[in-house]
Amino acid sequence: MIYFQPLTEFPRMKNTDCPSMKHYNPVTVQELFAIQNVANQVISEAKVFLVIGVGGSFLGARAVIDALTPYFTTKNDVEILYAGNNMSGAYLNQLLTYLDTKEVYVNVISKSGSTMEPALAFRVVKKYMDKRYGKEARKRIIVTTDAEKGILKKIANKEGYRQFVIPSDVGGRYSVFTPVGLLPIAVAGIDIEAFVRGGRQAELDFSSESNSAIDYAWNRYALYKQGYSVELLASFEPRLNKLHEWWKQLFGESEGKEHKGLYPSTVNYSSDLHAIGQFIQDGSRIMFETLIHFDTIEGDMEIPFSVDNIDGLNYLAGRSMNSINSTSKDGVALAHEEGGIPVIRIELPKLDAYHVGYLMMFFMKACVISANLLEVNPYDQPGVEAYKDKMLELLKEDMVKVRA
Ligand code: PA5
Repeated sequence: MIYFQPLTEFPRMKNTDCPSMKHYNPVTVQELFAIQNVANQVISEAKVFLVIGVGGSFLGARAVIDALTPYFTTKNDVEILYAGNNMSGAYLNQLLTYLDTKEVYVNVISKSGSTMEPALAFRVVKKYMDKRYGKEARKRIIVTTDAEKGILKKIANKEGYRQFVIPSDVGGRYSVFTPVGLLPIAVAGIDIEAFVRGGRQAELDFSSESNSAIDYAWNRYALYKQGYSVELLASFEPRLNKLHEWWKQLFGESEGKEHKGLYPSTVNYSSDLHAIGQFIQDGSRIMFETLIHFDTIEGDMEIPFSVDNIDGLNYLAGRSMNSINSTSKDGVALAHEEGGIPVIRIELPKLDAYHVGYLMMFFMKACVISANLLEVNPYDQPGVEAYKDKMLELLKEDMVKVRA
C-alpha cells in the first residue's frame, strides 16, 4: 500500500532489532459514531467551524483537511478556521469581525488545558460567543481535553459544554486518530471512517517484523550517522503543505533533544525549486531529501493543443498535468542524487482519506522507531516547556512593572 524505496546501500533492520513501540489505538466504532453525529449537527447549523489549538492539538487536523479539501471551495459549505496557534492581536481581532456575518461553532482543543496561545484565544472567543449567542453559546462550544485534569476541563464542566476526551496516554503530535483530529476532519466533510481504516491498516502493516516504517527510520538514522543533519520533506502537490508542517512537528518535537536529531525541514515543489532549489542542488552538503508522491489526485486536467503553438508546448498536448508533475518529480530526484543529495521515495496510490491515514500512521510509527534509535524519548518535549517557563517569568515581571 506504500511504496518505499530504501537507499540500497543500507542493510535492512528488523522490528526485533528496535526497542518496543507504543501502539496507537485509533478510536472505537462507538466513538467514531459519536464524533460523526456531532459533526453532522455542526455541518447542518454552522458556516464556520473555529478550531482553537496549537501544535499537536491542531496540526494533524489541518494537515488532513488541507490535503483532502478542494483548492477553492469547501466540501460541504462549512469553512474551517483556526485560532490559538499564534498570539497576533490583529489576527484575532480580524477573525472576530469576519465571524460576525456567519453562524459559528467552536472546538477548543488542549490536552493540558493551560497552553497560553489557545487559552488566550479561547478567553476572547468565549466572550464573543457569549455576547453573540447568549445561552445558546453553550451548545456551540465543544471542548476536547483530558478526561479529568486541567483548567479547560474545569471550564467545560462549569459551562456545560459538550466534551471529547484526549486519551491520557496519547501525546498531542500523535493524536490525529483521536477526537483531537477526527472532529474537525469530520466537520470538513472528510470520511473519518476511511481515514481511521487507513491508519489501522498501517498500524498492522508496520508492526510486522520487517517493514517500510523500520526501513525509513533506519535510513534516516544511518544518514544522520554519516553526518547529514537536515531532512527535507518534499512533495509536488500544494495541498500537502500542511501535511509537511505536521510531519515537521512530529519529528522535530519527538527527536530533537539532548543535542541530537535531524533537523526536519520542508519544501513545496515546484514553487520552492525556484526559491531554495539552487541551495539544495549546489549549496552546503548537509541534507537528504524524502519525496512524497501520490499516483492519483482527483480533478486532474489535460494540456490543450494549440493551433499556433507559439509557446512551443504542443509536445505536451494531451498529457495530464499530474503526469507532467510526476515526471518533474523524477527529474528533480535524479538531479538531486547527482548533486549529492540522497533521496528517499515514499509513494502511495491515491490522495484520499484512506491513504492519508495510512501515511500519517506510517510516519508516527517510523518516528517512534527513529527516536528509539537515537535513544531519546519520542513522547516528551522538555525544550518546549523551557520557552513557556521563560515567557511566564517575563509576563509576570511585566505585571509587577505595570503595577509599580
Ligand atoms: O505534540 C505535543 O504534545 C505538543 O505540540 C502539544 O500538542 C502542544 O504543545 C499543545 O498542547 P496542549 O494540547 O496541551 O495545549
